[in-house]
Amino acid sequence: MSERTFSIIKPDAVERNLQGAIIKMIQDSGLKIVGMKMIHMSRKQAEGFYAVHKERPFFGSLCDYMCSGPVVVSVLEGENAISRYRTLMGATNPENADEGTIRKCFAVDIEKNSVHGSDAPETAAIEIPYFFSNLELVG
Ligand code: RTP
Ligand code: MG
Repeated sequence: MSERTFSIIKPDAVERNLQGAIIKMIQDSGLKIVGMKMIHMSRKQAEGFYAVHKERPFFGSLCDYMCSGPVVVSVLEGENAISRYRTLMGATNPENADEGTIRKCFAVDIEKNSVHGSDAPETAAIEIPYFFSNLELVG
């Protein structure tokens, strides 16, 4: 079943000019980009986006980091896009990420781990409209 997932190229990756390399890995995997833009999140936007983690000890640091610089947000489409993109991303902690994954190639540490991807259809359904209107999505 074709589905859509939401992706962020996080501040650590944009800061190191890795957008192109990460977008190439996404496209080489066969996922289609149906929306993409560069934004600089406010603290409030980051807090809202990661609200599910608000009780976690790393929440404050995570929100500081996510609004520390520009990010690239995108919507990816394809068969099983959600799980395929999670596989391409690799484990949250890059020390545990498989060879050839985005996080294995580029992540700095468990927080500065270069990319975000929706983890379920219900999450994608909230995350995509958090950053994109329908008019910004093609195809
Ligand atoms: P994401 O939501 O960004 O796609 O990452 P994920 O599902 O692999 O990991 P999740 O558990 O949802 O955590 C969200 C983000 O919080 C940061 N984090 N820091 N210091 C820590 O122990 C810790 N754990 C997680 C990471 O940036 C992680 O991607
Ligand atoms: Mg997550």
